[in-house]
Amino acid sequence: MAFKLPPGVIIAEERPWDGESVGRVNRAAFESEYEALLVDRLRERCPGILSLVARKGDQVVGHVLFSPVRIRQGEGQDLIGRGLGPLSVLPDRQGQGIGSALCREGLQRMKAAGHPFVVVLGHSGYYPRFGFTQSSQHGIRCAFENVPDEAFMICILKPASMKGVSGVAYYRPEFDETA
Ligand SMILES: CC(C)(COP(=O)(O)OP(=O)(O)OC[C@H]1O[C@@H](n2cnc3c(N)ncnc32)[C@H](O)[C@@H]1OP(=O)(O)O)[C@@H](O)C(=O)NCCC(=O)NCCS
Repeated sequence: MAFKLPPGVIIAEERPWDGESVGRVNRAAFESEYEALLVDRLRERCPGILSLVARKGDQVVGHVLFSPVRIRQGEGQDLIGRGLGPLSVLPDRQGQGIGSALCREGLQRMKAAGHPFVVVLGHSGYYPRFGFTQSSQHGIRCAFENVPDEAFMICILKPASMKGVSGVAYYRPEFDETA
């Protein structure tokens, strides 16, 4: 499905030579090294990630990553879905629908791939428009400490698989690496 984007901007999977440009977008958007390093580490070590870019010509102007997240309910009862993030758009390209298009395209692909859920840790004013609701309402909380309730959200893609599911959601260990 096509989403409203500025002229000439397309959403596509990251190409092998996009790594540096993706790092630049993350550094500019977050004004920090953490997200750029996190994406590099996940790209290197983690099977099953989806890395999408927004591209205008040869320039990468936005990026989103989806990586595995495990909801641990009890002994041997893990359910694996995906986590959205980081999501970034170059500061001078923000507010033009690029972040929204990256989210929507990614969620569509997650659903098509059969993932039961996508979680996100982020702005509670932004993500509900894509179908995210507060995770705690579903009995699912984030393994990270000190996460405000409203900032951890879930988009349920396969309701049948999520029936009765509750527990703690764990991101990949790379998210805990700070240096
Ligand atoms: C958040 C971000 C990815 C949004 O991308 P974008 O291309 O600017 O977003 P869109 O143009 O699709 O959507 C714009 C809408 O998002 C809202 N928005 C942007 N940043 C927001 C924020 N931090 N909190 C709440 N809403 C936000 C805008 O107010 C606007 O709302 P409107 O459509 O009701 O007017 C981008 O602003 C960014 O890279 N920010 C810095 C990095 C960051 O915070 N990433 C997200 C971490 S959760």
